Amino acid sequence: MGKDRVVTHIHSESYLQQYAHKPITHKSLVYTTNRPAEKLNGLWYFTEDPYDTGLRAGWPKDSLTPYWEKDEPWDYGWDEGEQVPVPSCWNMINQRYYYYEGSAWYARRVQYEPLSSDERVVLRIGAANYDAKVFLNGEYLGFHQGGSTPFCIELTGLLRRDNLLQICVNNERFVERIPGRNTDWFNYGGLYRDVELFRLPSSFIKDFAVYLVPDGEYSTIKAHIEIDGSDVENQVRLSIPELDVDETAVLIDGKAQFTIECEPVLWSPENPHLYDVYVSYGKDSIHDRIGFRQIETRGTGIYLNGEKVFLKGICVHEDDPILGKATIEENIRRMFADAKELGCNFVRLAHYPHSELAAVIADEVGILLWEELPVYWTVDFANEETFRDAENQLVELIKRDQNRASVIIWSVGNENADTDDRLHFMGRLVNTARTLDTTRLVAAACIVEKDRLAEYIDVIGVNEYYGWYIPDFGGLVELVETWNPGKPVIISETGAGALAGYHGPKTEMFTEEKMAEVYRRQIEIISDVEYIAGISPWILYDFRAPRRYNRFQRGYNRKGLIAADKRTRKQAFYVLQDFYRGK
Ligand code: GCU
Repeated sequence: MGKDRVVTHIHSESYLQQYAHKPITHKSLVYTTNRPAEKLNGLWYFTEDPYDTGLRAGWPKDSLTPYWEKDEPWDYGWDEGEQVPVPSCWNMINQRYYYYEGSAWYARRVQYEPLSSDERVVLRIGAANYDAKVFLNGEYLGFHQGGSTPFCIELTGLLRRDNLLQICVNNERFVERIPGRNTDWFNYGGLYRDVELFRLPSSFIKDFAVYLVPDGEYSTIKAHIEIDGSDVENQVRLSIPELDVDETAVLIDGKAQFTIECEPVLWSPENPHLYDVYVSYGKDSIHDRIGFRQIETRGTGIYLNGEKVFLKGICVHEDDPILGKATIEENIRRMFADAKELGCNFVRLAHYPHSELAAVIADEVGILLWEELPVYWTVDFANEETFRDAENQLVELIKRDQNRASVIIWSVGNENADTDDRLHFMGRLVNTARTLDTTRLVAAACIVEKDRLAEYIDVIGVNEYYGWYIPDFGGLVELVETWNPGKPVIISETGAGALAGYHGPKTEMFTEEKMAEVYRRQIEIISDVEYIAGISPWILYDFRAPRRYNRFQRGYNRKGLIAADKRTRKQAFYVLQDFYRGK
């Protein structure tokens, strides 16, 4: 390491600047749905690094020399930590990491043999909370910010036969991050979604969006394709066999557009019809299963395929007693099955982008989705870097799920104070969402109905806890009788807490009886209000929340209709179920 490096790194607090370049953003995303992937999941070496010694001292550079050949002392060996499974949250792997917040190093070898001389190779990380710095064979490749969206790095030309891949993940909470320092959910850390390699032709399909033109005619499909690489050919082909569609379009400056007249069976929760859509270009081809539908607002109503719909919803977090924020298909399918048993046609995926599998499965099983950006409570709304981070996460989410019929709402945030900085920040996010996607509604969950952001969004989410945080229901009665928002409102949160199995009078806090009574009163008041187009009570399952430690909570938020075991239903579950079944 040399004396000067030792001295430098113990006297410098600006060590992060050397990593401030090479941001990995939505611009490097590659369309990977249904592509053959070489998964790098499995056991990685793991070393926690609470003082950021690795970034200060440059551990990756020193990782290449086997320890028996080193002539200077070392503090980190890439294969000298414990081995942990990827994907996972480190908090759930070992009790010593339960509350760990800081940097941690993941490392593994990657063998690589090119299959063709001109192939390109992309590394894709499904999600890493929060900041991920990627190193290959000791070289720094870049950093990604955002704990719930995928990111891609091209490795073409950088891979040897035998490689060392290291990723430094940091989950510390800062007000400058999205979300900021204070949340009502558990701050998990790690590489907690798939890590994959994709081999691509020298020119490949980088982005692909296909949708029903929302003009009320239900008879025009548009598609936009973007190619990365030299224009080996100038024709892109798109086919939808079930609709007898097989068309080509000319590639101009790496992009091709399709406008196709046809009348698809429309996707809906009752009939979640999906079409096989194929796109090919040169040596590349992709396939996706697409539902075609139109969502729109008319006055204070929400309309799906021209028919007014009431969104019978529920909120969910990504939180599992065993896996933490990591998820598996079985858990997502169970969540939607529980929501359907409750009588839902709608689920609010709070408060951040959930696994991409959620929207894929919602497309299949027929559930409408609200997806959300974790601009939650207090973030640094005056900070341009914070805005860049938020906007990048929004674009990554939209690019990831733009072909999912189930996603009908992009939400740009939750329960922020109504300040000028916040209004400017959120107004720009709303504009970005609208510019990128003309086929979905834009919303936000507000804590007060008179939030100035209401002017900017299509659907106003209102989080109200009359009967719980506000014991009296009078304010809710007055709200529904006097407010005329002029656009659809979704009660995006309401509810109460109860410890499953704790019983007592319906006046006693945290009894199941009290929770059920709050639901009964809420339903009485909000169930027939002309401008309320839906409700998504808080929340389907109890979840970890480090702000909650009373005798009933013990580190959990107990507003779940089902306990954290994801099996035990509370009385309120059946109160809401009765309402939805009668709706
Ligand atoms: C808020 C917030 C949730 C929180 C909930 C609660 O509305 O949006 O994240 O968990 O209320 O207090 O339980």
